[in-house]
Amino acid sequence: MDRLDKLLAATGRWSRREVKGLVKAGRVLVDGVPAAAPEQKLDPDRSRVLVDGEEAVFREFTYVMLNKPAGVLSATEDARQETVLDLLPPELRRRGLFPVGRLDKDSEGLLLLTNDGDLAHRLLSPKYHVDKVYYIRTDAPLTEEDRAAFAGGVLLADGTECLPAGLEPLGDGREALVTLHEGKFHQIKRMIASRGAAVCRLKRLSMGTLVLDEGLRPGGFRLLNEEEVMKIGGKP
Ligand code: URA
Repeated sequence: MDRLDKLLAATGRWSRREVKGLVKAGRVLVDGVPAAAPEQKLDPDRSRVLVDGEEAVFREFTYVMLNKPAGVLSATEDARQETVLDLLPPELRRRGLFPVGRLDKDSEGLLLLTNDGDLAHRLLSPKYHVDKVYYIRTDAPLTEEDRAAFAGGVLLADGTECLPAGLEPLGDGREALVTLHEGKFHQIKRMIASRGAAVCRLKRLSMGTLVLDEGLRPGGFRLLNEEEVMKIGGKP
């Protein structure tokens, strides 16, 4: 048995304070009866809770899509610098979420935050070949030769061999889509450096089946919907 306010706050849609207001206003029904108090106990597997007529879904794990802005660390905490967890409200921060993989501080775009350790492991393990697609801007045009070099597997300056990767130059060649099948430290920046250019902007657009919601402003986030959770291999 769990408290009603705890369960509703855990959906990420309302804070406990908001739940209190909803209950007081009679907008929360538990098995068809207006909830008596935010502290009311119930079994989330047996009881049906409606808020303004809409069923509340209680999930074991939380999956958040963040449009990471540049200038924020992909970490859970840092003594000095702002982290991606600092961008979330307290009711989500309390759930032990962590970023699945890292984007550099100056990189932007899709970051999945979850407390589902199994899923994180599967998404990051090279065994599962989860493709990641990035939009990049460079200081010099990329060419057909660069595309061929990426396709053949780039050798980095320190001797590290990269797996074959996709490079699709766009427009005048100073923009491109890059598809990686692995995730080495500063990988794209180092791959582009090996071709004699530098990355000026880097934004992740997708990770496996999960595509950045372009409706999210930089720093904006939302919970994954049920279809996204299923497709990415999470637990609905
Ligand atoms: N490659 C990079 O160099 N940086 C990132 O943030 C992601 C991929």
